[in-house]
Amino acid sequence: MLNIILCGAPGSGKGTQSEFIGKTYGLKHLSTGDVLRGEIASGSELGKQIEAIISKGNLVPDDMMYGVIENYIAGLPEDCKGTIFDGYPRTVSQAESLTKLLEKYHMEAIMIDLMVDEQLLIQRLIERGKVSGRADDNLNTIRHRIAVYHNQTEPIAHYYLHHGNYCPVNGNHPVPDVFLQIKRIIDNNISRNS
Ligand code: AP5
Repeated sequence: MLNIILCGAPGSGKGTQSEFIGKTYGLKHLSTGDVLRGEIASGSELGKQIEAIISKGNLVPDDMMYGVIENYIAGLPEDCKGTIFDGYPRTVSQAESLTKLLEKYHMEAIMIDLMVDEQLLIQRLIERGKVSGRADDNLNTIRHRIAVYHNQTEPIAHYYLHHGNYCPVNGNHPVPDVFLQIKRIIDNNISRNS
């Protein structure tokens, strides 16, 4: 099974690259941002709490996320070729919890970290904000999301570096070029394990 943890700042291209990776390797795509936005769209009480957090650009508490991931992994069909974890983990605690969960199900993952310059991130998200309708795609919230990323998510790079499965990618290039870098990493991993 091929599991990819796709990490990177807001606007680094996680969702965009997940589509290419998913189609090329037949993997499932789990975007925790989409799961949370789905809960908001349902109009539930939980969705209202989540909306208040996301619209400010903060992270949803770890405790709320653990169940989402555990249920997802426990429910995977036997013939699943693997998953792209897009936007999870986002804290060291989430990373530790995911490692334990994957071990429980005898799975492994490689972590691909999309590195993109801050000005480019802001430019991309402002541009997307013109059409996305996302409450968090405005300049103030974008800046806050990037600060949250630096404080809470960036440290997971050291976690995966220490665990030997960390693969940085230069995400400043056009979409197809970034995908080629990712493909090289995944193909190397496949040939190492075959
Ligand atoms: P989430 O939905 O994951 O948002 P995000 O991390 O802020 O990422 P984005 O979706 O904004 O960007 P992306 O990296 O996917 O880039 P994309 O491909 O879209 O999370 C939203 C919120 O949910 C979080 O803030 C948090 O509150 C909560 N949440 C989610 N997961 C959580 C967790 N695990 N724990 C706690 N809270 C959690 O691209 C962006 C734009 O750039 C697009 O318009 C695209 O077309 C363009 N683009 C992409 N790549 C390129 C390129 N190479 N060149 C030019 N343009 C490009």
